[in-house]
Parts: sequence; structure tokens; C-alpha cells
Amino acid sequence: MNKVYEKLQSCVASVREKTDFQPEVALILGSGLGDYADEIQAVQTINYADISHFPTSTVAGHKGRFVFGYVKDVPVVIMQGRVHYYEGYPMSDVVLPTRLMGMLGAKKLILTNAAGGINYDYEPGDFMLITDHITTAVPSPLIGANLEELGTRFPDMSEVYSRRMRDVIKKTAQEMGILLREGVYVQLTGPNYETPAEIRMCRSWGGDAVGMSTACEAMAARHMGVEVCGISCITNLAAGMSEKKLNHTEVQETADRVAKQFKKLITEVVSSI
Ligand code: HPA
Repeated sequence: MNKVYEKLQSCVASVREKTDFQPEVALILGSGLGDYADEIQAVQTINYADISHFPTSTVAGHKGRFVFGYVKDVPVVIMQGRVHYYEGYPMSDVVLPTRLMGMLGAKKLILTNAAGGINYDYEPGDFMLITDHITTAVPSPLIGANLEELGTRFPDMSEVYSRRMRDVIKKTAQEMGILLREGVYVQLTGPNYETPAEIRMCRSWGGDAVGMSTACEAMAARHMGVEVCGISCITNLAAGMSEKKLNHTEVQETADRVAKQFKKLITEVVSSI
């Protein structure tokens, strides 16, 4: 059997030894949102380190565990801390948790992240509904032998971020009085922030926000037929757009500043999609 699929199955078996919970919605929490998982009605948590063969995250501020529980009445699995490509894992490991949540039964995936704003209209603290993405600068997570058990060799990516979900999210944000931008997310490898020239390149490509995660997870989820949506928290203006130098503390501080509102939005989104 394919080694990537074998590893996935071993992780699924390891989780299934610990819980028979059936999630409907999967959530991946980005920087500053991690503690959302502490606020839900949890029924079980599983540390990544306790799942055999699971790639464990090394970023400060990212806890590494799955939280199973309920948001309102919706059964969810939450990834509190994601795996990033810049940590040195192959892309197949970066998207392993996403695929794992799909294999546990989640049919819908909500992705969140902190991102740098490329669009001149954006301000730090804004939320952006991801309408599409550009991943040309990172390897596709689907490179390698195709996992036939999950999906087709040449999957369509013309609507990665579900129009249906986007419509629901826009309506939800509007009803809550929350300003929601809409834009294209560009995934780069990180861990360094971009140069001003790279940001100009991303803008000329049609990008509105830039980050180091998310799009690869969205692709892996779409490959296996999971319905996907994503919301970015714009934590800073991207490199070269202000006099300020970029740092992780600023990213974290902005994310923390708007976390309460972001969490409220996520709760409503989970229960309405
Ligand atoms: N660039 C890349 N990733 C990010 C940024 C940024 O400016 N802000 C938050 N994550």
C-alpha cells in the first residue's frame, strides 16, 4: 500500500482507539485563535504526540492537539495548532491532520489563519473571507502517488472555497455587523516574512493576503471531497506597505485584539453552515 496512506490509516486507527466521536465539521485554528478550542463544549482531547506517526507542531503559541466536542449542537473536531511546511515536514505530513479529520467523518472544513494584508484597502484587525488561493510558490500536497482511496489524480480546483459556504458566512457576518473583506490568499513557504518585492509580486498575481498555511490544507480537503471555507485575520500590513518591520509579536497582538469577535463569528459560522 502507498506509504502516505498507510501512515494516515495508522493515525486514524490510533485516534479510533481513543474515541468513537463522529465530527461533522472540522476546524483548523490559526495564530491567536488557538484558545477557541478551550471555550467549546469538549468531550475529548487527544494530544498529537499521543497519535502514532503524527507530525507534531513546533511553533510557539500553537498547542498540539485535537479537541472533539460541540459548538452549539454541531459535533466538531478542532485542530488546536497546525503543522506548517516551514517546520520541515513534507507536504504529505503537513496535510495529514486535514485528511485525518476527513477520514474521521468531517464533511466540512473551516480554515482560519493570521495573514498579512496585501490589498491597500485592508487594515490590521480586518477579517477576510478567502474566495480563492494561489499556491504556485509551494509544492502541491497532492504530489506523489495519488491516494486513490481519497480522490482523483487530477482534481478540479475551480471552486476550492465553497460558494455555498461563502454565501452563508457573508450573511452571518452581515447579521452580526462584522465587516468581512473578500479576497485571494497567497501561500508562501515562510518562515521568514516576505520582502517588499515579493509582496509586489503577490499583488500583481492578484493576491489580497499572504500567509504560510491554509491553501495546502484546502487543496488536500478538496481532493477528498470535503467542503471547504476559510477566513483570514489580517494581522498586519505586508512587508514594504508601512515603515514597520514585521514580527510575530505584532501578528499575535493583532490576532489577540480581535480574537473575541473572530471567535463569535466562528461560532455562528459553525452552526449555520
Ligand atoms: N506574511 C506571511 N505570513 C503572515 C503574515 C505576513 O505578513 N502575517 C501573518 N502571517
